[in-house]
Amino acid sequence: MTPAAWALRTRVSLEETNLHLASLAEAGLLGIVEEHGMATVYLTHRLDDPPLPGQWEAVEDKDWNAAWRADLHPVRVGAITIVAPWHERPGDGLALVIEPAQAFGTGHHETTTGCLTSLQALNLTGSTVLDVGTGTGVLALAAKQLGAQRVVGVDVDLLAVEAAAANAAANGLDIEVYPGSADAVSGRFDVVVANLDTATLSSVAGDLAQRVGREGILVASGVSNERVSEAVTALAAAGLAADATLGREWAVLAGSHTR
Ligand SMILES: C[S@@+](CC[C@H](N)C(=O)[O-])C[C@H]1O[C@@H](n2cnc3c(N)ncnc32)[C@H](O)[C@@H]1O
Repeated sequence: MTPAAWALRTRVSLEETNLHLASLAEAGLLGIVEEHGMATVYLTHRLDDPPLPGQWEAVEDKDWNAAWRADLHPVRVGAITIVAPWHERPGDGLALVIEPAQAFGTGHHETTTGCLTSLQALNLTGSTVLDVGTGTGVLALAAKQLGAQRVVGVDVDLLAVEAAAANAAANGLDIEVYPGSADAVSGRFDVVVANLDTATLSSVAGDLAQRVGREGILVASGVSNERVSEAVTALAAAGLAADATLGREWAVLAGSHTR
């Protein structure tokens, strides 16, 4: 029997896997799931020369989607549980429904959970929040659920912009989503959250500083523990003093204007 799909199980992180999205998409990408530091890439067929190292497994299930769905579990971070549309809702706390596989941000990555923890430690009631690199909109939508009054998400990837808008509608949450980066919006925000990689964070540090209110806070991640000093230096050059909390693999930075 011809397998319905192929799963490539790799130890490569989701962030690194995402770097190969274009070639994977061309090769028949169906979806990517990451859990416990392992990414599983689902493809329509087995590749002779995959862009990532890993072990192939045939997915015999006629509905490959069922196999992929079974791998994806809800993620609870503090009061928020991120669920896929087919998951049961939690009995308590806040449920955030995120359609996976459209863009980065199923909530499984340590950088996302780190930002979610930091956002919950802030009092967002009535605040303004900008999410730079919104992906699926997961952080922007969480901020709205946590009581923010105005939430704006921006992303340079148009698919992410569509995904975030679709997830906002699915959750009945009113956020603004625009294509572009921190310079696509004007004004200052009480909280700016930016889960970007170190190089991107460093390159947009000046724009982020322009968006963080005088008394505001920047919550940033996408920075590995090893590269924290690089990110802190780039933010300092832009006028933001940042402290880092190291995680298992990824750090979360909290920055504010130096006074
Ligand atoms: C690591 S994902 C974060 C997604 C989501 N915010 C989360 O925390 O799970 C980074 C996102 O930033 C976007 N991105 C990359 N460079 C960017 C830039 N210069 N400005 C805005 N978004 C950017 C990518 O398209 C991607 O959706």
